Order: sequence, then structure tokens, then C-alpha cells
Amino acid sequence: MDELGSRPDRICLVTGTSSGIGLAVAEELLRRGWDVAGVARRAAPLHHARYRHLRLDLTDTARMEEAFEGSFGEALALEGRARVGLVNGAATLEPVGPTSATPAAGLARAFALNAVAPIWLLGFFLRRARGGKLRVVDVSSGAARRPYAGWSAYCATKAALRMAGEVVGEEARSFAPGTALPVDLSVVGYEPGVVDTEMQASVRGALVEAFPQVGRFLDLHATGKLHPPSRPAMEIADLLQSDGLPAWSERRLGG
Ligand SMILES: NC(=O)c1ccc[n+]([C@@H]2O[C@H](COP(=O)([O-])OP(=O)(O)OC[C@H]3O[C@@H](n4cnc5c(N)ncnc54)[C@H](OP(=O)(O)O)[C@@H]3O)[C@@H](O)[C@H]2O)c1
Repeated sequence: MDELGSRPDRICLVTGTSSGIGLAVAEELLRRGWDVAGVARRAAPLHHARYRHLRLDLTDTARMEEAFEGSFGEALALEGRARVGLVNGAATLEPVGPTSATPAAGLARAFALNAVAPIWLLGFFLRRARGGKLRVVDVSSGAARRPYAGWSAYCATKAALRMAGEVVGEEARSFAPGTALPVDLSVVGYEPGVVDTEMQASVRGALVEAFPQVGRFLDLHATGKLHPPSRPAMEIADLLQSDGLPAWSERRLGG
């Protein structure tokens, strides 16, 4: 497979580029001259010489590992880049409903997509992007820190991803520079606010019996308070281009 890129100095992998925030991040990075690779089950509506897409269900973590350790990972040519980005955007809200009614299979899928895949990708990038600057943005949520009734899967998986980022921050302090991690590294847990995407539509589609706070999200939508995906996408792109951040930190939209 050919190596990606006409501008080989910067590349970013974005998961969830078929819609919403991931798509907007990919568009913004392409505008700024980055090479971009994306992953989602569907194709991405991006037709650009500097964009490469992998159709993959990230809950299939064995196939994910195979793809990244194999030809898709090789084609990213991470080792030779001055700046490498990873945006962990793909996630699911499902299963939604009381913890007492949450099925094991749904929980396992949520953990695979929202926690196992992004944490493994973080490790893959820590291993492979050793030469240049590594910038990781984990798309987080207030649900990583606050409980929402009916969202045990979403809250628990987002909390798991948040903690993994914090652990990498601790590893940057504990391991000798340049051994387990790249020397110039930042991981940011980024909360994008309430954004007008497919996921946000599914939040509003929940029954009040499954998600008691649904009324709040219906009101935000009805009163035009949702942000367009381009708004967090600009901030995520800025974070990927920034220098001097600590190994781990957190940001919120506008913050
Ligand atoms: N929207 C908000 O208000 C909001 C608020 C806080 C945090 N977030 C976070 O923002 C991130 C992006 O969500 P969004 O709001 O932009 O939602 P979205 O439009 O529904 O995007 C989700 C993306 O994840 C991908 N995805 C879902 N399941 C997948 C799977 N099994 N394998 C591979 N890719 C998968 C989807 O692609 P396919 O369906 O093609 O696979 C899609 O590209 C998520 O991490 C979410 O938790 C969103």
C-alpha cells in the first residue's frame, strides 16, 4: 500500500469520521494541510487526496489490531512524521436504560468501542509515534465525571477512557523520558459541549423511563442551543497543533 500524503510532516488518525464531530475534525485538518486517516463502519463523505479511510467496526478489537499492526498501520508511516495526532471520537451511547435492565452484550460492545478501542489506539500511537510530537485528543463528555440516570454504560466507558489518559500523564512522570512514551506528548480529555450530531439526536429519542433527563436535551434543541460540529472541531484541531501542554490535561468547549 502507498504511504499517505503529499505533506508528510503531519498526520492525524480520527475515529468516527463518517458523521458528527469526527467528520468535522477531519474536514478541518484537511483544510489546514494535514494528512488524515479515518475509521468508521460507514464510508466518510470526504473525497480528498490527503484522506484515507478504513471501514471497520471498532467493537471488533481483534480486526482493529490486525489492521493497525498490518497494512493500514504501516501506510500511516507514523515513524517519519514531525507531528502525529490521534482523535478518539467514535463512541456509542447505547445501551440506554436503568442499570438493572442493561444487557451484558450491549455493555460489552460499549466498553469495546468507547474504552478498549481508544485506549488500545492510544497505546499503539505511544509505541509507534516516537520520533516527533504526539498529540492525542480523547473526545470525552461530562458523563465521564458526572452520573446520568440511564447512562451506566456511557458514563462508565467515558470515565474509563478519561482515567487511561490520566494514567498516561502519570507514566510520563514515572518512566524515563523516551522509554515507554514519546518525549513530546500531550493527551487531552476534551468535552465538546452539546453538539448537533446523530448521537445528540439519539439522546433526544430516548424514552423518559430509560433516560429521565431527556427533557433537558429536548429543550436545548428546541431553543437552538446546540453547537455545530465545526465549533469543537476547530478547538480540537487547535489542540493538535499546540505545543507546551502537559502530558495529560482536560479541556471543555470554549475553555
Ligand atoms: N454530540 C454531543 O453532544 C456530544 C457530547 C459529548 C461528547 N460527545 C462525544 O463526541 C464523540 C463523537 O460523537 P458525535 O456526537 O459526533 O456522534 P455521531 O455523529 O453519532 O458520530 C459517531 C461516530 O462514531 C462512529 N462509530 C459508531 N460506532 C462505531 C463502531 N462500532 N465502529 C466504528 N465507528 C463507530 C460512527 O460511524 P459509523 O456509524 O459509520 O460506524 C460516527 O462516525 C463521541 O465520543 C461522543 O461521546 C458528543
